Amino acid sequence: MNKVITVIPGDGIGPEVIKSAIQVLDTVAEKFKHQFTYQYAKLGGIAIDEEGTPLPQSTIDLCKSSDGVLLGAVGGPKWDTLPGHMRPEKGLLGIRKALQLYANLRPVTAHNSLLDASTLKREVVEGVDLMIVRELTGGLYFGQPQERRQEVDGEAVVDTLYYKRSEIERIVKQAFELARLRSKKVTSVDKANVLESSRLWREVAEEVGANYPDVKLEHMLVDNAAMQLIRNPKQFDVVVTENMFGDILSDEASMLTGSLGMLPSASIGGEGPGLYEPIHGSAPDIAGQNKANPLATILSVAMMLRYSFNMSEEADAIEQAVTNVLEAGFRTGDIAEKDDKILNTEEMTEKVIENIQLAVTN
Ligand code: NAD
Ligand code: IPM
Ligand code: MN
Repeated sequence: MNKVITVIPGDGIGPEVIKSAIQVLDTVAEKFKHQFTYQYAKLGGIAIDEEGTPLPQSTIDLCKSSDGVLLGAVGGPKWDTLPGHMRPEKGLLGIRKALQLYANLRPVTAHNSLLDASTLKREVVEGVDLMIVRELTGGLYFGQPQERRQEVDGEAVVDTLYYKRSEIERIVKQAFELARLRSKKVTSVDKANVLESSRLWREVAEEVGANYPDVKLEHMLVDNAAMQLIRNPKQFDVVVTENMFGDILSDEASMLTGSLGMLPSASIGGEGPGLYEPIHGSAPDIAGQNKANPLATILSVAMMLRYSFNMSEEADAIEQAVTNVLEAGFRTGDIAEKDDKILNTEEMTEKVIENIQLAVTN
């Protein structure tokens, strides 16, 4: 098959992990006789520096003209003092919105060979397999007004948590559809004891859930959910929640797998291409050092092949290669234990590539 992929390296470790992902894509293309054409686009800090805006129109156009978008990460201290609308992160929010990517899927799978890499006890994380379905184009991130103001008694600030019923309906429906293909349980996470938006969220979850009698629905308050994720993560199958709650809970949940550097994501739901990115950021503390774990981005490529290109055999090959490499004991610094030999980004990528090549020629 012939596919056009818009590639957005971004900032910090973004370009490093994207380089790994492209090498993996090239390997898949060669082995499975596909043709992937890459068109590179700028977003975030690099776009601010070179084009004066975090989201150039040309980037939106390139994304829309492709079959899938692969993104590294954006942001960094260099741009942290810019006003809100000029920050790199605004570019990321803008592209998600422009492509109508309201559903962000963040799978959390504990690899058996990484159980001791987690800071949690082995028996707590063994067998963890959950999916966070994060609403991505609404909620606290997008509600208006969002501003600073001068009031008579001094400076004030407002962020707004706004949802239309239809926005809640479509994301909850997505969660139920996914649960049907998994263990048939949806945990809807909210703050319904305080927030009006959460009370509507809960109401809608009940209504949508009524159409899925084969799927169990439970509601959980977000503070309790944060605790339960650490206490007994195996109770969860699909977790569906508001944009910011999902952001926070997914970084927390990543530690069940051993590292933030392990978690991929798929942002889907629009009429055009899906966007695939690791959940981690630009990691300024390790940028430019060839140290970053490329597996989250490599696994995001697998999600792109599976969800956008319908290439499940190819996606399986990547995921299996990652599992094999971990089982063989190869580690980047973030998942290494004492006495492990530490591989750099390029070496880890090479191991995954060798494994994909082996699997296919066998
Ligand atoms: P971060 O995710 O960049 O890093 C948090 C910690 O995890 C750091 O210690 C980092 O070194 C480590 N880490 C992250 N990814 C890793 C990897 N692949 N391998 C090994 N270690 C890894 O979060 P932060 O430091 O809070 O944010 C840094 C910048 O990234 C900020 O500007 C933030 O806005 C941005 N950010 C961007 C995205 C995105 O583009 N999707 C996501 C999150 C944060
Ligand atoms: C993520 C990031 C982004 C978010 C930031 C950089 C805007 O943290 O993708 O998880 O909060 O959505
Ligand atoms: Mn985040």
